[in-house]
Amino acid sequence: MAKQKFKPGNMLYPLPVVMVSVADKAGNKNIVTVAWAGTICSSPPMVSISVRPERYSHHMIMETGEFVINLTTKELAFATDYCGVKSGRDIDKFKEMKLTPVAGDVVSAPLILESPVNIECKVTEVKSLGTHDMFMAEVVAVHADEKYMDEKNRFDLTKAEPIVYSHGAYLTTGKEIGTFGYSVRKNKPKPNKSKSRAGKNVPAKTKKKPKKRES
Ligand SMILES: Cc1cc2nc3c(=O)[nH]c(=O)nc-3n(C[C@H](O)[C@H](O)[C@H](O)COP(=O)(O)O)c2cc1C
Repeated sequence: MAKQKFKPGNMLYPLPVVMVSVADKAGNKNIVTVAWAGTICSSPPMVSISVRPERYSHHMIMETGEFVINLTTKELAFATDYCGVKSGRDIDKFKEMKLTPVAGDVVSAPLILESPVNIECKVTEVKSLGTHDMFMAEVVAVHADEKYMDEKNRFDLTKAEPIVYSHGAYLTTGKEIGTFGYSVRKNKPKPNKSKSRAGKNVPAKTKKKPKKRES
């Protein structure tokens, strides 16, 4: 198998791309698009975002120690890109993109109403890594849009058409091809699901049921 060798760089793609909403102590608010974001702990629930110190948003997060991660969708792709190329130093991104700031429960940074999921975060540690400062933060509240709840009262984000970021492109996510633990699950996949789910690598009989845990 022949492989190209690239110089070491950021190749971990696709990535979630999120709109991070922030506010300073005076109440000025802003939105910054972030792709260097991730889940870093299950309990306590923790996330990280890496932001360059020169971003206008950077000092706002430093000032309050708070931010909100707003998940993005196909419908929000344009605004996601715009908030990643324009600075809050020059314009009001909420106004320009017709996004609605709403008060959160815990943090002073606003939620973006149009986003299907808003994750309120409180910074626990800031680590200067080089080009970026990594803000490690605890999740202190989560808001999910009711319109994406299904008949069984489960949240179904696929209905919101979430997007990912990969090598400079925004992509919608594809069809479900399995669910957590499907590789060892005893029950056969439902007949109306896609064929790939019932692929030939699925063992016919498996005794152990996987724990319902993602990480
Ligand atoms: C798809 C995308 C992903 C981005 N990811 C990051 C990131 O992870 N960290 C960062 O510091 N800037 C990132 N940026 C750049 C900032 O969003 C951009 O510089 C923005 O204009 C800064 O806004 P501000 O000056 O209002 O804070 C990204 C931009 C785009 C379009």
